[in-house]
Amino acid sequence: MDIKEAKKILGNEFSFMFDFINSVVQGLGLDKDAKILDVGTGQGRMAIILALNNYKVITGEPKGDNSEYAKRDWLNNAKKVNVDHMITFMHFNAMDMSFEDGAFDAIFLQGSFHHVDDKVSAFKEFIRETKPNGIICIFEPTPRGINAMRKRFPSHPDAVDPRNLAHNYNLYVEVINGSFFDAFVFKKRD
Ligand SMILES: C[S@@+](CC[C@H](N)C(=O)[O-])C[C@H]1O[C@@H](n2cnc3c(N)ncnc32)[C@H](O)[C@@H]1O
Repeated sequence: MDIKEAKKILGNEFSFMFDFINSVVQGLGLDKDAKILDVGTGQGRMAIILALNNYKVITGEPKGDNSEYAKRDWLNNAKKVNVDHMITFMHFNAMDMSFEDGAFDAIFLQGSFHHVDDKVSAFKEFIRETKPNGIICIFEPTPRGINAMRKRFPSHPDAVDPRNLAHNYNLYVEVINGSFFDAFVFKKRD
């Protein structure tokens, strides 16, 4: 199914970020058999966009997360656009995951990083789990994005600049600016 049709089916609230996220995903040019992890499933926007681009995705969030941001029926959304078979859900905590070293070509977080309690440990895990030349792609809200989210979730946390966590690692970084979110793309050097 193409992105235009998927946006129509999923509706405005789900799809307002689609074009930006989709252009970042396509710009990365990952191999079609890339091993991909999506951290922080939520309503499934990130995982579904990856799947609509024909990538298989593992996605997850902590089992005990009872916040308003978790358990948001990603499966139903994925089924509506016929990509549920491309997405594997499991419970995990970004701060301490059980994936092997170098398990992934790319790790994505869309609107999740600022929700993680211990960001230093989580970033360390992302570094451990990506292959050499692997990608860590973190979408974080702009001030405009935060204002929009606080209309619905008044206590929504502040955004985080993930570059502040990256100083100790050998990474290239590129920032792609959007109106509601920016994308921080880290590439592990060999
Ligand atoms: C706003 S939602 C993310 C939206 C989602 N990425 C999307 O594209 O629709 C925030 C997510 O972060 C997850 N989260 C919070 N702390 C986490 C942690 N320590 N490890 C993994 N996920 C976490 C929440 O469970 C929730 O799924």
